[in-house]
Amino acid sequence: MKVSTLRRQAWDVLQAAEIADPVREADWLLASVLGFPLHTLIVEGDRAVSPVQAERAWTLIRRRAERQPLQYLLGRQEFRGLEMAVTPDVLIPRPETELLVEATLQAVLDIRGPRMLDVGTGSGCIAVSLARGRSDATVVAVDISAPALAVARANALCHGVGDRIRFVQGDLLTAFSVSPDGVFDVIVSNPPYVPAGELDALQPEVAWYEPRLALAAGT
Ligand SMILES: C[S@@+](CC[C@H](N)C(=O)[O-])C[C@H]1O[C@@H](n2cnc3c(N)ncnc32)[C@H](O)[C@@H]1O
Repeated sequence: MKVSTLRRQAWDVLQAAEIADPVREADWLLASVLGFPLHTLIVEGDRAVSPVQAERAWTLIRRRAERQPLQYLLGRQEFRGLEMAVTPDVLIPRPETELLVEATLQAVLDIRGPRMLDVGTGSGCIAVSLARGRSDATVVAVDISAPALAVARANALCHGVGDRIRFVQGDLLTAFSVSPDGVFDVIVSNPPYVPAGELDALQPEVAWYEPRLALAAGT
């Protein structure tokens, strides 16, 4: 099978599954399987796809048609220009959370060596961005989920700030006793805030696949 044929078939499957942008999403998945940059898929249209590549591509296309989030299938999401690894153990970083990072960095503009606390760190997107944004900062990143902390740690190491972020598994306020003097210059959080009764009304990608622990505010 040629790349161009596989692309057209993948578009059709994702369109039938009511994926909002089937062409773009199919191309992202195919590019990752074929190992091409996205923009070269068109010029590589006549190239043959091996049976192994086709099988891997169809596995991803089928999973996307089941509404598994594109980011979990690719294993990454860009956040403030940094590529964050994501797994189904963490919330996929949202663009609006970048504004929270900007506001937090603004808040400590005049503080030397700011001590920062990120409560509910998830993928670590906020903590890593803060540490990258201020090379003199120390950050404590708390999450109740051990698997989420493993993803956050990997992101911190990948982006060169593993030595300035202390990861703590704990419940919300636990972190207050972790800082040497129990004091932070700024505390930031993007907590779970969806009322439990509204979870099932969210789009399938969120309701079915993102961690409930990251979404549900409780009763
Ligand atoms: C909405 S997600 C935010 C993740 C990340 N900070 C972001 O902005 O993408 C909330 C996070 O809080 C964590 N969490 C939920 N309840 C918690 C608790 N009681 N104490 C600490 N973390 C908690 C979840 O595991 C999840 O990673």
